[in-house]
Amino acid sequence: MTDSELTSHKAANHDTVNNKKGSHPTGLEKVTAAVLAAAHVQASDRVIDLGCGAGLVSLPLAEGGARVLAVDSNQVLLARLERAARDRSLPGLEVLARPIDCLSLPADSADVIVTSYALHRLRDADKQRLVAAAYRWLKPGGTFVVADMMFGRGTTSRDRAIIRSKVRVLARRGLGGWWRIAKNGCRYLVRVREHPVSISAWTAMFARAGFTGITASSIVNEAGLVSGRRPVPQPSAEPDHASAAAPPAPRM
Ligand SMILES: C[S@@+](CC[C@H](N)C(=O)[O-])C[C@H]1O[C@@H](n2cnc3c(N)ncnc32)[C@H](O)[C@@H]1O
Repeated sequence: MTDSELTSHKAANHDTVNNKKGSHPTGLEKVTAAVLAAAHVQASDRVIDLGCGAGLVSLPLAEGGARVLAVDSNQVLLARLERAARDRSLPGLEVLARPIDCLSLPADSADVIVTSYALHRLRDADKQRLVAAAYRWLKPGGTFVVADMMFGRGTTSRDRAIIRSKVRVLARRGLGGWWRIAKNGCRYLVRVREHPVSISAWTAMFARAGFTGITASSIVNEAGLVSGRRPVPQPSAEPDHASAAAPPAPRM
């Protein structure tokens, strides 16, 4: 996990950063809990965790009996996750070292796909491609859950409140904080490394890919969650025109 991603993670966390551990759930714990709740994973489900990191989401899912494919490009974190899976005797957790944006997986192979705080680095076109790919990787009826920093470029009051609160938190850290504000502000404006988009942009991507039952919610601070289901094809109520209209077989 890079410094910047940790910062993002901590930023999602900032309302409770000053809490003593154990008193209230931190922002990060709220995000993880929201992903687990939205995913409705059943024991023996096949789950893909995109950008799994050290396994905050993958490990509890595997502990619940799911077969988890944990994907990340960071080999160090994957090695840590593999060790944790071994220590906890979780043979159902498998890791895959691969960049998410060039991932290729079999169609119709997953019951649930989750991703927590990993997609804001992708360019918008890659996000849309990934959402479309997730649709293909899911079995019909499967669920895709995305939690991430979700805000736009300040056009909504939610965006502006998020930006104000990020600046306020960093400013309290003194000179180092102001340096971060300048650095993050530049990145945000030029979208060099981080490309968060709003909750409504995510729901639009889900809809374009064909997901139905789309839900969207704000978790804490800038963290949002969008989920959708790959629809199950309904048997057609129409008569089977192809066979009805077929000419009788020629007599031999
Ligand atoms: C902030 S961490 C979140 C980790 C984990 N999902 C969690 O909730 O703790 C982001 C993770 O996404 C991974 N990641 C970001 N962009 C990626 C990409 N394009 N391909 C693969 N992994 C990526 C990083 O390596 C990192 O482990």
